[in-house]
Amino acid sequence: MTGKDQVLPLPTKNKAVADFLSARRSNLVKLMDGPGPDAGQLAEMLETAARVPDHRKLAPWRFVTFEGQARADFGHHIASAFMKANPEMPQDRALFEGQRFMRAPNVVAVISSPVKCVRGTPEWEQVLSAGAVCYNLLLAAQSRGFAAQWLTEWYAYDKRVQAALGLKGGENIAGFIYIGRVKERPTERARPNISLIKSTWTG
Ligand SMILES: Cc1cc2nc3c(=O)[nH]c(=O)nc-3n(C[C@H](O)[C@H](O)[C@H](O)COP(=O)(O)O)c2cc1C
Repeated sequence: MTGKDQVLPLPTKNKAVADFLSARRSNLVKLMDGPGPDAGQLAEMLETAARVPDHRKLAPWRFVTFEGQARADFGHHIASAFMKANPEMPQDRALFEGQRFMRAPNVVAVISSPVKCVRGTPEWEQVLSAGAVCYNLLLAAQSRGFAAQWLTEWYAYDKRVQAALGLKGGENIAGFIYIGRVKERPTERARPNISLIKSTWTG
């Protein structure tokens, strides 16, 4: 964390960053491979991810990381939750669900963990900050040459999966950030026409 009195650089023109942000795309997990970041690289990414606007410095979010065997172990919870919610489904569907976290070498669950404070930062703002953490983690990974995608799929909203992840009351899964290597370059995705969503206040 930066010291309170440390003087930071002024914004400067940085074409590489501007170009990166203008052309950035997520990397779909199905087009992802290994190896993932090492422990030091992942730690740096999480530091970057946590460097987001956060009204009143509440840090209303936390991370749970998965790699190696832990991905398969957590997959048992995902598969079991799926089969309990969908008992009519064939058993091979459990195998599929259990493999979700195996699609990338690293998965980071970003948990939105709003702090209750009377006349404090509205919960909405704390949740927005968690979204910013997810996006910043994508940028942190991609700017270091890794592939990354933000997914929730069904299991982010499943109570059994949330319990297995240790969610406390009021917490939600903002996203699972899958991180790996690019197996195939992404193609462009349709983008909004800004003129349709922008208006200029004229009074
Ligand atoms: C909160 C959130 C949850 C998402 N969950 C999923 C998901 O479950 N499945 C999926 O295919 N895409 C999901 N996406 C979309 C992708 O991560 C990504 O936005 C999309 O592929 C295009 O991303 P890009 O504009 O960065 O290229 C989600 C996006 C957000 C913001």
